[in-house]
Amino acid sequence: MEENFRNFRNWLIYQVYPRSFFDTNGDGIGDLNGVTAKLDYLKDLGVDAIWLCPCFKSPNVDNGYDIADYRDIMDEFGTFEDAKRLIAEIKKRDMKIIMDLVPNHTSDQHEWFVESRKSKDNPYSDYYYWFDQPPNDWKSSFCGSAWQYDEPRGQYYLHSYAVQQPDLNWDNPKVVKEMQDIVDFWVDLGVDGFRCDVIDRISKDFEGNRNLFGPNLHKYINALFGREKTAHLFTIGECHATDIDEICRHTQADRNELTTLFQFNHLRQTGRIDKWNPKPKELRTARDILTDWQILHQERDILHTLFTDNHDNNFFLERAADVRELRYESATCISTLVFLMNGVPLIYQGQELGCCGSHYDSLDDFNDIESINMYHELIEGGTTPDEAMEKINFGGRDNTRRPMPWTAGENGGFTTGKPWITMASRYKEINLETDLASDKSVFKFHKALFALRKAEEVLCQGTFTPLHKAKDNFALYLRELDGRSICVVCNFEETTKIDLPEAKGEILLSNYGRRDGDESEFRPYEIAVYRMK
Ligand code: GLC
Ligand code: CA
Repeated sequence: MEENFRNFRNWLIYQVYPRSFFDTNGDGIGDLNGVTAKLDYLKDLGVDAIWLCPCFKSPNVDNGYDIADYRDIMDEFGTFEDAKRLIAEIKKRDMKIIMDLVPNHTSDQHEWFVESRKSKDNPYSDYYYWFDQPPNDWKSSFCGSAWQYDEPRGQYYLHSYAVQQPDLNWDNPKVVKEMQDIVDFWVDLGVDGFRCDVIDRISKDFEGNRNLFGPNLHKYINALFGREKTAHLFTIGECHATDIDEICRHTQADRNELTTLFQFNHLRQTGRIDKWNPKPKELRTARDILTDWQILHQERDILHTLFTDNHDNNFFLERAADVRELRYESATCISTLVFLMNGVPLIYQGQELGCCGSHYDSLDDFNDIESINMYHELIEGGTTPDEAMEKINFGGRDNTRRPMPWTAGENGGFTTGKPWITMASRYKEINLETDLASDKSVFKFHKALFALRKAEEVLCQGTFTPLHKAKDNFALYLRELDGRSICVVCNFEETTKIDLPEAKGEILLSNYGRRDGDESEFRPYEIAVYRMK
């Protein structure tokens, strides 16, 4: 891993949620052929690598994060042949594919669990955590206890997520071997990397009473990716390490563990008290958190991941900035701020169009197990139905899981059938077709932004130096490499007079049409990128 981690900064990764990307057979569910059909679109945007959310056999209790067979494709998504064709078509376009590996748990339909629950002495009996009595009071991330009594076996098993997602017992060496084989199976098929779902949970800290960061975590990650066969892979952990030393222990090149980790603080602390409760919108918090991470990652020579959106949160734009009159300015400001930093950029489907959250009044318009469980828990706790509905509208994961709006036509051109989930409430207004026809195209801006990043080595490989002060309500930073330098300015909510460095030269990118020599104040969410003389 030593040498190649810096090169990942030349990539642009695009996260696809296959269920909602594009449906090719009219059953209302996006499929692998739908991803293949849109590869030229992604190439045109400037995408280098595609992270595909889980597409493996699954009963879909948690939309594919409950896997019943790691070596086969979900029926609704197509066939194994479709997967091979998708990989081949990605390679043909000189792009990479990153699969979603779910090592912490399987579906209860997985053969291992089907066998495991049968008795205390079968070849799979120790693949999961079984206890006569719950050994602690751990809670499931999807509400309720994390322990479930299982009739056939007469014991309790651990599920950190849904009841139908039993946690694998990595302390059993057979489980480690199974997971290595699964990784190798996909590597042999040409996969270039893995996004590793809740990887911090694969070793449990029973003694310290924490269902994550257990004593063998590093050993297990190393067993997966510290091998010769996997050294070239791009591996990104969904891991809740928030201390730089812990991050280093996962990602420093000589550890042979992961290429990088997601850092969620900027996303968690912007415009919300917690997942379900808003606070005022602003961008300064995100700027400060990202600035600190940039410096720390740079000092330690590790790779920072640059992103604001994923399938587990409402769109960042919705919480951070103006989603009405200044939606174009807001979306382009956020992407400039984040994607021109030092690290590997990762964009989520629909973000390139400035997609926003939805609002619905009926639970029928929601699908996600997390939101539905939360709704019921809130009602039981005395919250009124209206308030509970507001909370899941605000924080629910369905916001970013609604179908990609390709056109202004019926169902956004996503399907000719009935979409598996209600379309985003603003899709007639926010969709690719309408966007491309507008003078303020969010898509075209992103394309220009990524083209600029690609054309200027300094934006991929250069150092990051912040010039803004804590009190400033804007971001101002330099990227520098071998005497070359580029200055990035992103103004936030209010019109502001910003003192720029003397040596600023031509404007390389702007979202308000700012011209060279224009010294006027920066308007709300205005950005400009300058080459330095
Ligand atoms: C991760 C995934 C999320 C899933 C959970 C359980 O947090 O991103 O979508 O529900 O793990 O697998
Ligand atoms: Ca389909």
